[in-house]
Amino acid sequence: MNNFWHDLPKPFSALAPMEAVTDIVFRKTVASATRPDVFFTEFVNVTSFCNPKGRHSTNGRLEFNKTEQPIVAQIWGNKPSEFEQTSIELAKMGFAGIDINMGCPDKAVVKQGSGSALIRTPDLACQIIASAKAGGLPISVKTRIGDIKPSEWHDWIKLLLQQDITNLTVHLRTRKEMTKVPAHYELIPEIIALRNEIAPSTLITINGDIANYQDGIKLAKKYGFEGFMIGRGIFTNPFAFEKMPKTHSKEELIDLLKLQLDLHDEHNTDQTPRKFNPLKRYFKIYIRDFSGASELRDKLMHAKNTNEARMIIKQ
Ligand SMILES: Cc1cc2nc3c(=O)[nH]c(=O)nc-3n(C[C@H](O)[C@H](O)[C@H](O)COP(=O)(O)O)c2cc1C
Repeated sequence: MNNFWHDLPKPFSALAPMEAVTDIVFRKTVASATRPDVFFTEFVNVTSFCNPKGRHSTNGRLEFNKTEQPIVAQIWGNKPSEFEQTSIELAKMGFAGIDINMGCPDKAVVKQGSGSALIRTPDLACQIIASAKAGGLPISVKTRIGDIKPSEWHDWIKLLLQQDITNLTVHLRTRKEMTKVPAHYELIPEIIALRNEIAPSTLITINGDIANYQDGIKLAKKYGFEGFMIGRGIFTNPFAFEKMPKTHSKEELIDLLKLQLDLHDEHNTDQTPRKFNPLKRYFKIYIRDFSGASELRDKLMHAKNTNEARMIIKQ
């Protein structure tokens, strides 16, 4: 098996999978600012993927191209057979790895027994991991430290480490904590000690409240984990993965927005239709921290399509 995780620099950086955010358009925009070492897709439901009538809804989420490698497809669901079928097909599509979502706290996902609900059904979680190996790609899991209380972490993380996975990403909060409390960095030393004891070859990626590359490197050096993942940090700093932080001009920020508008049009096809309005949530990432930013953002919010947005930026 060609396992890209072993070839990554240590510590490595990753852009977190984010539903309705980290599609090919945004990932390419981030990459043009500064690219992380690993990309993840938004999460993809295995039931939709395995159903001929639902497959089309996963097309946009699974769109990627060669320049994005290594890219990992993140999948979610609750039926081992669907993980098996999906992993075989994703391997044929050229993904570098498969990540299983065992951390999503969204009520609709949890109600189905998927995402973070798997913390409460450990036998099923293990079957899912075993089934996802069918495609031959390296398997990683992204999870939280427990369902309700941080003190639950030990048994759950131990169980996952016993499943012979390549990478375990730990978002240092429980399902119940959502993102309402600071990430529990105090647990990292114990998590690393447990990994060293029972699964020394499984990589640990830490996630939660890491704002940028420098913060990630500092934490990784302090605690000795292999990777760090940045999610919301990218919303306030599109250059979050920059190794040497600099101040970026208004022009650089606007150029990123222009690029995203162009990429949106390029990837808006019959097979992967993309609506304009959801693009508006990205405007505040680029149109910030310069004089006149808030007025420009207000105007952009009234744009009806990418051409109107381009005209407004030009004015
Ligand atoms: C808008 C949004 C969408 C998300 N979608 C996903 C997802 O599809 N899969 C996943 O594993 N986590 C998802 N997450 C959680 C993030 O990957 C990450 O674990 C969380 O934001 C904590 O990291 P941070 O503090 O760096 O943001 C999402 C988070 C946000 C804010």
